[in-house]
Amino acid sequence: MSILQVARIGNPVLRRAAEDLSRDQVVSAAVQKLIEDMIETMKEYDGVGLAAVQIHESKQIAVLEVEDNPRYPRKPRVPLSVLINPKITPLSEEVEEDWEGCLSIPDLRGKVPRYTSIRVEAWDRHGKDLNFVAADFHARVIQHEWDHLHGKVFLDRMRDLSTLSFLQEFVRYWADR
Ligand code: NI
Repeated sequence: MSILQVARIGNPVLRRAAEDLSRDQVVSAAVQKLIEDMIETMKEYDGVGLAAVQIHESKQIAVLEVEDNPRYPRKPRVPLSVLINPKITPLSEEVEEDWEGCLSIPDLRGKVPRYTSIRVEAWDRHGKDLNFVAADFHARVIQHEWDHLHGKVFLDRMRDLSTLSFLQEFVRYWADR
């Protein structure tokens, strides 16, 4: 396994829609290795999610996991999951604002509105169908990753930039609010 370099904002790969995978592609050795490397890279940098475009691969793959994470303390656990070609449908109009950061936009945080409940249809890392409901922080992470797979980043989703903060200022002025 390898730790991969993370593309930062300004790199055009982050602004392109990623390509769907076929089931044959999913089970190929190359894509299986890519998934392993994405998981290792996400863990190395304390991410709660990582999209393939962030490691310069324009493919519809996202990995996520929320454990005890120093970048996002006190968040509910989400088991390690791999989402391929994900589709998401909001289950209500309810939206909540909360803080997000991104490994491709280092050291910045901002408040982003997201649907609180979504249905997720995707394939797992073996190409098997997944269909589940995600809520709250889990739903937030999936919407953030879905955005990456469509060339968007959290800055695009902020209602305005008034909460945009460097991490040090976030901790000083905003954490726990
Ligand atoms: Ni991100």
